[in-house]
Amino acid sequence: MLQKNPAFAGVPGPVVVIVMDGYGIPKHTVGSAIDAARKPTLDRLFAQYPNITLRAHGTAVGMPSDDDMGNSEVGHNAIGAGQVYAQGAALVADAIAAGTIWQGAAWQETVAAAKAGNGGVLHFIGLFSDGNVHSHIDHLKAMVAQARAEGVKTVRIHALLDGRDVPETSALDYVVPFEAFLDEISADGFDARIASGGGRQTITMDRYDANWPMVARGWRTHVLGEGPQFANATEAVQGLRERNPGTIDQDLPEFVIADGGKPIGTIEDGDAVVFYNFRGDRAIEITRAFVEDDFSEFDRVRRPRVTYAGMLQYDGDLHLPERFLVTPPAIRNTSGEWFSKTGLAQFACSETQKFGHVTYFWNGNRSGKFEGETWQEVPSDVVPFEQRPWMKAAEITDAMIAALQSGRYKVLRCNYANGDMVGHTGNFRAATMAIEAVDLALSRLLRAVDAAGGVALVTADHGNADEMFELDKKTKEPAVNEDGSYKAKTAHTLNPVPLILYDNVSGGRLGLEQTGTAGLSNIAATVANLLGLQKHERWDDSLLVVK
Ligand code: 3PG
Ligand code: CO
Repeated sequence: MLQKNPAFAGVPGPVVVIVMDGYGIPKHTVGSAIDAARKPTLDRLFAQYPNITLRAHGTAVGMPSDDDMGNSEVGHNAIGAGQVYAQGAALVADAIAAGTIWQGAAWQETVAAAKAGNGGVLHFIGLFSDGNVHSHIDHLKAMVAQARAEGVKTVRIHALLDGRDVPETSALDYVVPFEAFLDEISADGFDARIASGGGRQTITMDRYDANWPMVARGWRTHVLGEGPQFANATEAVQGLRERNPGTIDQDLPEFVIADGGKPIGTIEDGDAVVFYNFRGDRAIEITRAFVEDDFSEFDRVRRPRVTYAGMLQYDGDLHLPERFLVTPPAIRNTSGEWFSKTGLAQFACSETQKFGHVTYFWNGNRSGKFEGETWQEVPSDVVPFEQRPWMKAAEITDAMIAALQSGRYKVLRCNYANGDMVGHTGNFRAATMAIEAVDLALSRLLRAVDAAGGVALVTADHGNADEMFELDKKTKEPAVNEDGSYKAKTAHTLNPVPLILYDNVSGGRLGLEQTGTAGLSNIAATVANLLGLQKHERWDDSLLVVK
């Protein structure tokens, strides 16, 4: 149990943590959909309630460097755990640098499988960029080189085009040099090529069971070799862009590389497959398709018997997958666990697209609930979100209000996906509406917090809608196209996020301290203090000030 806090007995009602996904504090108003949005509630919160900024990127959330933007995985891990762990991006980079990854049983079994028999193939499937959110292309490069050094003869890569964690039409910046690299090392009996691929929002990388047909399309592309054929990936990207003018990389259709009409990299019995994303949410469904005997999410048509490895283990509870190259961070003593041990009932809610963020990521990449937790998922629309920028903000609010009115919960949390999911489309106008939808939702939710005698911490996991135009690498000012228009940006930002204390119950006794290091990992202890509890010894400090 967490101990009582002698300095503060806690607020009378519940404590609600509201994550406005993708809501950063920008340096420029140009390109900020947040500044462009009409948001009377948020304006009032910033003007009238204690608020500070939190670091939400780089080393503050366990990324390798402060040049790495934040993302929802590391952000929700830090908020939920109250601690910062070296995250997948850092762990994999370190394991490669130290060479320990090659000594692990998983890598050795994978290589052995690809070398056994006649003409075994080593396949790599994953996100093909240096975004460092789900994967890093340098990890792929190191593995291909190592496979060659260890005597693997044939490597096939299934490249998921990004344009979401990196500039929206940057695919060729990765594909062209990588195909050149593969060409160069394909000598002396070694043969490595990109064999299939497609936009990450079109195939393979669905999450939280939102859109299984996407994964089915990926399976048909990578495993069965079905799809429009091209001679190489460079021509595929060029050809698909010609056929689909205006389509950004993440939304490009699938492609298959073929020689004389025959796909060069279907996945067959005896092959080895490495899914090289380190982040789990968008890796779980395709992993299940490879490893599950009883699988009914779609018709696999043919299920090759392969040696399958994930870059990390994506779900510790489900042991998914069983074989993984690098051990994931062992996130322990999360706030969900300790509030549960203290006997507090907890409620978590979001829509499908972010549901696992407030449950699985929040609880340290565990799919199971702690005792006393209730989770509610609002099904997301399956549409491009610029077409529905309000998403399910109203329905999440309904669920949160009902949970507050039930009087059953002492700690509640929710995630409004809008700023992030619409921010990722690069559509500025839709992103302003996304923020307006969140603002409207907050106005309703906060009234229910008041009625319950509670307080709310309003925050975000990382920026996105705050910077809808690419910044020039040198000047750090919004970059312009040749025609003078701004370059749309789909990725997250490096900006800090707000932490607002919405408190109408303490009579002004409570405030927040802006420390030099304040970051997302300070939220858990702040929640504990608001509940009248001391933080767990492993958590970073509370930012609550009691006057
Ligand atoms: C995605 O998976 O949609 C992006 O790569 C990262 O977005 P998220 O970290 O906000 O989920
Ligand atoms: Co995002």
